[in-house]
Amino acid sequence: MSLTTCNVHFSQQSNKVVYLSSPLLKKLKLSGKKSVRLKLGNEVINAEIKQLNRPGNHLYLSAGIRQLIKVPKSGNVYVLNSGENEVQLGPLVGILSDNGIRSESNPFGGRTEFIKQIIRTGEHKAYLFGFTPNDINWQQETINGYFLDPQGGWYRKIVPLPDVVYNRLPNRKAETSASINALRERFVRRKIPIFNWSFFNKADVYKLLDNDPEALDHLPESVSGPSMEKIKEMLETHQFLYFKPTAGSLGIGIYRLTYHPKRGYFARYRKGSQNVLLRFGTFSGLIRMLQAKHGISLTHYVVQQGIRLVEIDNCPIDFRFHMHKNGKNEWVPAGIGAKKAGRGSVTTHVKSGGSLMTPEQALKTTFGDESDAVLEKAKQTAIKLSEAIERNYPHRLGELGLDLGIDKDGEIWMFEANAKPGRSIFKHPALRSEGRASVSYIFEHCMYLSNFQGQGGNG
Ligand SMILES: Nc1ncnc2c1ncn2[C@@H]1O[C@H](COP(=O)(O)OP(=O)(O)O)[C@@H](O)[C@H]1O
Ligand SMILES: [Mg+2]
Repeated sequence: MSLTTCNVHFSQQSNKVVYLSSPLLKKLKLSGKKSVRLKLGNEVINAEIKQLNRPGNHLYLSAGIRQLIKVPKSGNVYVLNSGENEVQLGPLVGILSDNGIRSESNPFGGRTEFIKQIIRTGEHKAYLFGFTPNDINWQQETINGYFLDPQGGWYRKIVPLPDVVYNRLPNRKAETSASINALRERFVRRKIPIFNWSFFNKADVYKLLDNDPEALDHLPESVSGPSMEKIKEMLETHQFLYFKPTAGSLGIGIYRLTYHPKRGYFARYRKGSQNVLLRFGTFSGLIRMLQAKHGISLTHYVVQQGIRLVEIDNCPIDFRFHMHKNGKNEWVPAGIGAKKAGRGSVTTHVKSGGSLMTPEQALKTTFGDESDAVLEKAKQTAIKLSEAIERNYPHRLGELGLDLGIDKDGEIWMFEANAKPGRSIFKHPALRSEGRASVSYIFEHCMYLSNFQGQGGNG
């Protein structure tokens, strides 16, 4: 296997000949050969080859060839000698997303800018495009992809099925539909890697890790669909609990439940733009309130041991670890944001008054000189947790957003793992370069998954 870049030119001949400059011919071990198997995504054709006496790595594709293999554009791209007499252009990388409202100029809604960033990172190296479920033609095995022009506008090109799919479908509900399930299975059946598979539910993640001692060390005690007796028992053991909807996000529907033997039961939650604190003399009073508000949907809740987080000015702080798999298939913490809860708020979400800071700022108050060591320990734990989730999960994972807490003793706890993590931490001025690194990891991991690797790593 050898990986190099070449400059692809489009020529107007209608024949099916590929011209290669002599240095490229040599690098791809095609000297003296008459024909080659040329691949792009899942498309393969046989083409006659001819040598061109020109320095540098150049490849000329005639109109006849282009029509067959659907190379989207001229210019620099990776080329891989992927077997005896076989050459692959690309990789061809598809980014799967959608927009509630169909719109040609804004095909991916709020994700459009992020998808543009990924495509730009791979510019002059690979063929990256965005697409929605409706753009796939399974009969022809093609996709009508959205490519980015140098001015930042979209243009459409029909290309073969890609070498790898990065899944950023935005909608939790749509993702569990039969049609999206079938779509993912169709990629898998064709051996096209797709990551990540879907959103996670909190209860699913806790269950996944239930037999993984390494991860269990860092999970607060959690029970899905708890009975009322269980909640009471856990309140007596831990004095405070988090009660969360299993498919929730953004802190919506979360309660912080506390028990004081003398003063009774307390429930804290967010209502609109207000923080509410209710007191109940009896446990059944507390439960009646929850049942009146949620009824049967309480079965889709998890109850979790509360963790006494590090604080600044009495406001708890937790951390988002944005994890990626890199070009060597290893987990790396690409960016870490610290989130301080708004005063009186149950969660640290910015929408409920929380604020974002760097992990260094957040840890200094509590740990002083020990901060670096605590942060390093948290990073190692985040890697271990990502590996644990991956080894217990039946589908492919390449990115995770871990919500971690650090308690006053410096112990690390995981509250939640997100398989489609948001990117708001990267808006912090101090985390912009981490944001760019995160996008690079996505591209590097696509290179890895599509086997575009030379003998000594990426060319
Ligand atoms: N067991 C817990 N102990 C202490 N704080 C918690 C606990 N669970 C959640 N939190 C706080 O609430 C926030 C939101 O919880 P999380 O599980 O991430 O739900 P969501 O999906 O709504 O983001 C966390 O980031 C953390 O600040
Ligand atoms: Mg969260």
